Amino acid sequence: MPTPSSPANPFPANVVTGRHELLYGGDYNPEQWPREVWREDVALMREAGVNLVTVGVFSWASIEPEPGRFTWDWLDEVLDLLHAAGIGVDLATPSASAPPWLARFHPETSSVDAAGVRMSVGSRNHFCPSAPAYRDAVVTVARALAERYADHPAVELWHVGNEFGQTCFCDLCADAFRDWLRARHGALDRLDEAWGTTFWSQRYADWSEVVPPRAAPYVHNPAQLLDFRRFTSDRMLDLYRLQAVELRRAGDVPVTTNFMGFFPGVDQHSWAADLDVVSDDHYADPEHPTPARTALTHDLLRGVGKGRPWLLLEQAAGAVSWRPHNVPKSPVQMLQDSLRAVAHGADGVCYFQWRASAAGSEQFHSAMLPHAGPDTRLHRAVRHQGALLGRLGPVAGTRVAARAALVFDWPSLWASELPARPSERLRATDQLEAYHRPFWEDGIPVDVVPPGADLDAYDLVVVPALQLVSDDDAANLARVPARGGVLLVGPFAAVQDPTGRVRTGPFPGPWTEVLGVAGEDWRPLPEGGVRVRSEAWGEFIADTWSERVVARDTDVLAAYAGAGLDGEPAILRRSVGDGEAWYVSTVPPSDVLGRVVRDCARAAGLAAPVPGLPAGVEAAVRGDVVFLLNADDVARDVTVPGAVEDLLGAAVVDGRVGLEPGGVAAVRVSPAGR
Ligand code: GAL
Repeated sequence: MPTPSSPANPFPANVVTGRHELLYGGDYNPEQWPREVWREDVALMREAGVNLVTVGVFSWASIEPEPGRFTWDWLDEVLDLLHAAGIGVDLATPSASAPPWLARFHPETSSVDAAGVRMSVGSRNHFCPSAPAYRDAVVTVARALAERYADHPAVELWHVGNEFGQTCFCDLCADAFRDWLRARHGALDRLDEAWGTTFWSQRYADWSEVVPPRAAPYVHNPAQLLDFRRFTSDRMLDLYRLQAVELRRAGDVPVTTNFMGFFPGVDQHSWAADLDVVSDDHYADPEHPTPARTALTHDLLRGVGKGRPWLLLEQAAGAVSWRPHNVPKSPVQMLQDSLRAVAHGADGVCYFQWRASAAGSEQFHSAMLPHAGPDTRLHRAVRHQGALLGRLGPVAGTRVAARAALVFDWPSLWASELPARPSERLRATDQLEAYHRPFWEDGIPVDVVPPGADLDAYDLVVVPALQLVSDDDAANLARVPARGGVLLVGPFAAVQDPTGRVRTGPFPGPWTEVLGVAGEDWRPLPEGGVRVRSEAWGEFIADTWSERVVARDTDVLAAYAGAGLDGEPAILRRSVGDGEAWYVSTVPPSDVLGRVVRDCARAAGLAAPVPGLPAGVEAAVRGDVVFLLNADDVARDVTVPGAVEDLLGAAVVDGRVGLEPGGVAAVRVSPAGR
């Protein structure tokens, strides 16, 4: 495990190796290449500043070509070569893609989709997490890897599986689902109650009738869908644990797995305690760049790890091959994507993959080393990036100190995607992004946390899209204004309890008192939205959603003027002792929402770290470093209060940093000067 920084070395250490450097590298799949290429790879990695590669994610068939027969020679050699070059290894268990022999001997190890179709070999991710033969095989190969390599000096991190979150609807998973439901609900009539099965005559007479939400003629029971999401996440966690336990038994190398941002497949909050290091894969779309959403995702991953530094384990150096039309990243986008991750708390930035594959399903996916070789613009950009990251050692291990939190959890995300809801246009992730955006624009650090988190460190807590919440978590959030903080709640909040049952009575059920709001009905808006009038923010058109709410002992800051809601409250604020509770019952345009969020930030005493930040320049603060990314094609001068030096080498004169078009800076500030 990483060593803490010592007084002798004032720099904190990175979260994986305990060294005072950031990690840089990518997935490395040497089994796709002859041995002589490995030596070239390692030499080029060194030149590029690579210090961590992920090996073995899809190597099962190369490690165990037949059941129980292991071929280690190639992997021994690869690990030795890497170690000799000073490159660490993130060694993966290969459970994401079992070799075809497993399906030949045990057809039940392949997953079944909701329509009952069994998946074939010839791709990847075709496993059934409940098939005993698959589970046994996974344990066998994980144990064998651990026994052989736990003490290998190259191995600095274990990587379990890949991007967990697959579903399987087979009979074995149906059995496991029933066991899971028994543990959650107890008796069958409790399940019936929780799922509301009197509706549409779904009441179960026997456990054997309960199945996963397989193909059905019309809308599924939403509570069944929610529980199947939870079950799938737990089933995947179980599969992760089966492997992690083998790796931990063999030594104390830290263990991770690569998540996928807001991907609904697993509830990362419920996994976090099982990971030594939280990791993410993020594939920004270079054709339609959404840096704000990317920053939000990074803030989420940091929150999953309770603020610890995390790793960006996969991104693309150029184009991916799975979009319909794969526009490549520019070198500027590539560098800025990596530095954004570092600015938001990553201790490492890696890619899929090191060398572009010549064959196989991803032969047209970009890599750090393209088909055309090292003498290419892309590879020069990879080296340049390695050199810049090499200067950011002082950032490794440092934390982002946020006084604002954005609340998110997977059950609410799942609920917001269920069929037959008031509007498909009110999407949880869009709402999160809308409320996060003003923080991103101003460079104010914000953590994304679950509703049950310890919120004491936060002066402002924003709840953009929490459709489903437990009584305890609702009480946790309601305490924020009571202790002098600011709570900002978005529409359609706290509508359901954790089973998915609608809370009856005025909404938002548990928060009517703290918000001073008694909601009557939700009113999705027709195209064109509704006019809203506000003394503070003028007149504007709100979109998508409105609600009929009655204000109780609350200031009405904006009122509807149309849509059958003339004069009724749209945005409200209530003083609670020294604190404030805000409720936004609609979807304001981004400039107005920005002003609402900024008013809340001001009330909470939060200020932008770089006042007057020019448009097109992104700022993010980590520890005592302010990262600046200029996405514009014009040069910009930025004044950073307390600026001491640019770790990336640019001159800082009187606190002013000059950014070239597409330029970047990592400005160390003195706390006294800020
Ligand atoms: C990830 C996956 C990698 C590779 C990559 C391509 O989802 O983990 O193995 O497929 O996508 O973008």
